[in-house]
Amino acid sequence: MFEFSLRVTGFIYQDDMNCPNTGAEFTALWRLYCDTMKKSAGMRVLKNHISNRVFDSVKRPTYGYIIITSLCNSRCKYCDMWKNKGENEPNTEEWKRIIDELVNLGVVLLTFSGGEPFIREDLFELASYAKSQGLLTLVVTNLSLFKERYIEKIAESFDFFGISIDSTRSEIYKEIRGVDWLERIKENVHKIMAGLTELKADVHVCGMITITNRNANEIHDLLHMIFDNLGMDTISFNLLDPSGGAIAKEFTPTYEQINDIKQVILDHKSLYPISNSTRYLSQLGNFDYRCNPWKCVQINEEGFLIAPCLPLSAKPGIFPDGGRIDLRKNKLSDVWGGVQKIYSNYANCKLCNLGCVAESAWSTYDLKFIINDSLFGTILPTMKRISERNNGKASSLYKSPLYTGD
Ligand SMILES: C[S@@+](CC[C@H](N)C(=O)[O-])C[C@H]1O[C@@H](n2cnc3c(N)ncnc32)[C@H](O)[C@@H]1O
Ligand code: SF4
Ligand code: SF4
Repeated sequence: MFEFSLRVTGFIYQDDMNCPNTGAEFTALWRLYCDTMKKSAGMRVLKNHISNRVFDSVKRPTYGYIIITSLCNSRCKYCDMWKNKGENEPNTEEWKRIIDELVNLGVVLLTFSGGEPFIREDLFELASYAKSQGLLTLVVTNLSLFKERYIEKIAESFDFFGISIDSTRSEIYKEIRGVDWLERIKENVHKIMAGLTELKADVHVCGMITITNRNANEIHDLLHMIFDNLGMDTISFNLLDPSGGAIAKEFTPTYEQINDIKQVILDHKSLYPISNSTRYLSQLGNFDYRCNPWKCVQINEEGFLIAPCLPLSAKPGIFPDGGRIDLRKNKLSDVWGGVQKIYSNYANCKLCNLGCVAESAWSTYDLKFIINDSLFGTILPTMKRISERNNGKASSLYKSPLYTGD
């Protein structure tokens, strides 16, 4: 009975839920209701949240993260992806089938990552397909392969567009990322922002900053560059994972640097639409969170479900109970129940900074926090900024009189 009322109120919703056919008017209303439930990402997130609270055994994940290629054209020092050969990757149809399975599982937001996602020629096709299946789509890119003719496709295919820019200074960018691309990337960002504004597209464009000891003293400059100079919509800080590459740990910030960074970002949280939650920022460097890795289904470049998570898959010594399941041979919905035990074993894992794959706000059950911090603290201010951008009036709040640009 309780489940029935949840179903009727929409908190439990199945994508294969049949609409009854008892009278044209009722059917039309029911269809409208079904469509609204399908389209409303917020409602689906809420439904997952409540379903996970009520039925503990098999979880409904809200996020998906796929590495659509491991190939990369950059040479970053903290990431070894560029050393890969890109072998045995799923083709377009195989990825589409995996996307269908993610939808069936309840995923609402899907991140396309890599390697460099723009190396895949079917990136737009896959993202548009995911959108057509009701997912919100996000891509993370180094932006080196951007072409002006992509603007319309970006507007059609992505809800969130994350651009990695680690520094305001060319020499530091080059030192961290191994290539001298800062000016070229900034030029591309200007083109994207101008193009999206012309189209009045509501794509959230986010500057993604990986915090290292090299850019630790640049937080103010990065905020000004992202918002005032480049006119981007939001910013996301992500603390270095020292095990992300063979020499990544050389870039580990000190505790003093992390504490200073944390303070600067928290101080600016009410002024800028910073996408990190206060929960993530307060635990930065302290590993003080409950991870719940099942919230984000993570799939590697060969189409394998990695449970509990991609960061651990590179560490076999501390990943003894981990699971790797080939999703070209198995349906995700068939294997999902079987991997719940793995996820629960790692529920309290504190081995990474979360960061680029999973934000700690994603794993909280505190609905009040989600509404106050994520909705009112980040999503609404970012939407306000996008609306101002599209109407040709950037808010004066974000214009620093001291900043002259470069
Ligand atoms: C793996 S990259 C893939 C997408 C794309 N190639 C890019 O660089 O944006 C996704 C994000 O992870 C970040 N990243 C890579 N290695 C990392 C590490 N060791 N620790 C923390 N973040 C890292 C990158 O800076 C980027 O923002
Ligand atoms: S961080 Fe991105 S651009 Fe840099 S090597 Fe890794 S995948 Fe490539
Ligand atoms: S804390 Fe990090 S390494 Fe541990 S399960 Fe969560 S995402 Fe994986």
